[in-house]
Amino acid sequence: MIRELRPDDGSILGEVFAGLSERSRYLRFHSPLHRLSDRFRAALLDVDGHDRLALVALVCTPDGPRPVGIVRLARTGPDDADIAIAVVDAMHRQGIGRQLLTALGDRAVELGLTRLTAEILPENTAAAALFRSVFPHGPTRRGGGILTLTCHPAEDAHPSS
Ligand SMILES: CC(C)(COP(=O)(O)OP(=O)(O)OC[C@H]1O[C@@H](n2cnc3c(N)ncnc32)[C@H](O)[C@@H]1OP(=O)(O)O)[C@@H](O)C(=O)NCCC(=O)NCCS
Repeated sequence: MIRELRPDDGSILGEVFAGLSERSRYLRFHSPLHRLSDRFRAALLDVDGHDRLALVALVCTPDGPRPVGIVRLARTGPDDADIAIAVVDAMHRQGIGRQLLTALGDRAVELGLTRLTAEILPENTAAAALFRSVFPHGPTRRGGGILTLTCHPAEDAHPSS
């Protein structure tokens, strides 16, 4: 199940963060983050569904639904937003990242966003492959130790998803 993250979803945010290895945290946040500070945590929960939107993926377990990944966008202009994603390590390579990113693309189109930008570390081949599997079109630029992928969600819309 995929739903919007809410400002009171602190436990979900914490659970997903706890499920990321040190390497995944580094790849996601571009720094070796051991814990979420109160300030950063508040920023990640500061979602309004329009300018700052996050989607969480939940899987069913015998103990109830567990959060396994979060994708988010932050509007940077009328047509543009920055995007980022993380899936807990135990659930990598099971299609969760693709489902989250596809759902985010659909929401972005609904919000009138035509250009999504992902900044990833050059060694992050998994993220590069994921972003381009969902959004094949758009330039990839390298500079300042970062790969910047531009994605066009309307052009790459997934009407059947
Ligand atoms: C990048 C990330 C979100 C991928 O999530 P995921 O749920 O494992 O991805 P999926 O299973 O949906 O994979 C979809 C496609 O992405 C590509 N991909 C994903 N992981 C890959 C890997 N390790 N190596 C190569 N390609 C990979 C493949 O094309 C894959 O399709 P396939 O499995 O049919 O070959 C996950 O590895 C992650 O959370 N990494 C740490 C955080 C991060 O790097 N975030 C990106 C920076 S914002």
